[in-house]
Amino acid sequence: MCGIVGCIGVKNPVEYLIEGLKELEYRGYDSAGIAVKDENEIKVIKAVGKLKNLEDKVKKSGLKNPEFGIGHTRWATHGKPTEINAHPHRGAFSAVVHNGIIENYQEIKKELQKEGIEFISQTDTEVIVKLFEYYYEGDSFKAFEKTLKKLEGAYAILLITKYEDKIFFAKKGSPLIVAKNGNEIYFASSDAPLIGYAEKAHYLEDGEYGVADNEIHLYNDSQKISPYFKSLPTNKESAKKGGFRFYMEKEIYEQYDVLKENTLGRNTPDGIKFDELDREFFEGINNIIISACGTSYHAGLVGKYLLERDAKIRTNVEVASELRYREPLLTKDTLFVVISQSGETADTLETLKMAKKAGLKTLALCNVDNSSIVREADKTILLRAGIEKGVASTKAFATQVMTLWMLSNYLAQKNEYEAINEAIEVTKVDSALHEKIKRLSKRYLHGHGFFYIGRDIFFPLALEGALKLKEISYIHAEGYPAGEMKHGPIALADPDLYVVALLSKNILFEKTKSNIEELVARDATVLTVSSEYIEMTDDFIKINDTAHPMVEFFEMMLVTQLLAMEVAIRMGNDVDMPRNLAKSVTVE
Ligand code: G6P
Repeated sequence: MCGIVGCIGVKNPVEYLIEGLKELEYRGYDSAGIAVKDENEIKVIKAVGKLKNLEDKVKKSGLKNPEFGIGHTRWATHGKPTEINAHPHRGAFSAVVHNGIIENYQEIKKELQKEGIEFISQTDTEVIVKLFEYYYEGDSFKAFEKTLKKLEGAYAILLITKYEDKIFFAKKGSPLIVAKNGNEIYFASSDAPLIGYAEKAHYLEDGEYGVADNEIHLYNDSQKISPYFKSLPTNKESAKKGGFRFYMEKEIYEQYDVLKENTLGRNTPDGIKFDELDREFFEGINNIIISACGTSYHAGLVGKYLLERDAKIRTNVEVASELRYREPLLTKDTLFVVISQSGETADTLETLKMAKKAGLKTLALCNVDNSSIVREADKTILLRAGIEKGVASTKAFATQVMTLWMLSNYLAQKNEYEAINEAIEVTKVDSALHEKIKRLSKRYLHGHGFFYIGRDIFFPLALEGALKLKEISYIHAEGYPAGEMKHGPIALADPDLYVVALLSKNILFEKTKSNIEELVARDATVLTVSSEYIEMTDDFIKINDTAHPMVEFFEMMLVTQLLAMEVAIRMGNDVDMPRNLAKSVTVE
């Protein structure tokens, strides 16, 4: 996801900007840029691809005496990863970097265009700088305040103008930190860049904004407030992991923010909106085929339940490596959907090419813009999960399922605005829940295997829960439909068989409960995850009571991810880089 840096009052601002961006590299990006005030002008230097490209351009740019500046790494969400779309975005006399999404950018853009103001990028960010210049009448701070009032959505913003030796800043919904070391003032979107430059920092709260010269002038609601300085961490590596033990843990905790980003501007009180789709695209479509691998395949399976039940479109989900060789019947009234975190999975890509060759319309749900799959597909919905480092996919899965839920709402013209927001809320990790799972995990280390069971959408979740566990703990685990256990696997039941039962209150509660009873009667060791307490099983994890199964789904997802991770940690495994696995599988 995007990263922001900025500094003023610093001897060598370009050095901090570049070094700071390097510290944010791990978050993933596809272009980068800086803007500095140099010889009374704002100079902007940008490059697509690695930071090395930006560094080379900066070296050749002939900057004379850069005084202060801002920088950005961009992970494309609105518009392709091109140099024009890279930040900073500039106007006639100022430049801006921005993280987040300006939801009403199209309205603002139209208004400004009517006034004759031109836009060159496809981004939402450009409206910020153009709006600022439009409002500017000699008082930059006033113009900045006016600009903020007009913006809807989420943002962390740094803005500079050639008329002032100042950095204007604001935060709402996206993180921003300001740090001070004497007269030196530094900005960053997470703490890693600041370490070594300053010892204390103010972590901005939503609604805070201000201006920095050799002091930090902080405001909220036009009222001046004092910064509240906290000590910065001292270890860069742990700062990158946000203090978490593993990237996987950080990514599990990030799901709440990432889902907010994923649904921003899409889940609206008036129903689902996808900027990237139009209704015509779906004309003549009677079937959907979803093709994917691994975790993405499991997300696809959830999609089948939702698309058929809500949107009433026949949906088949296929493992890409099977689909590509089985000479499937592909008819033109079928929409071919590929799901991929990386956008580079060879088997998925090949099925996409096959579908295109057969003349099908194609849609990608993908996390990486400009990846092979995105380039190949007719349309793409980006997942906006940010880079995922842990090999075992967590936050990408969450965004895949959420996107499929929104897609099925979109096609069904169904409005589940509230339920979607409720589902996001339950992905906020509760420390007591995590602690309980940590404690429970010690009982689940030495059996002869695991079964995860569930019905309906909780069956694909059982598959995914089992996959998570085997990927990182190397313990054998299977996901099974709860009602199918009696047709064979129940023969394995004994005290050393561990079962994780996903018991939904909202879908087939009594039937799933009976399936659990059958296992308990045969002495299996059962951990039930449910909002309804049942006494008969060995262990129980309580989730929030809700009327919507998808809300249960997202909380149970969290539980299965944390359980797999805690078991793996107890086994002493490298959770982020499990043996034999690769994050992106570009071979067959
Ligand atoms: C690999 C990864 C899995 C992932 C699968 C599909 O096997 O280890 O975590 O689910 O590829 O990857 P994709 O990038 O297409 O979602």
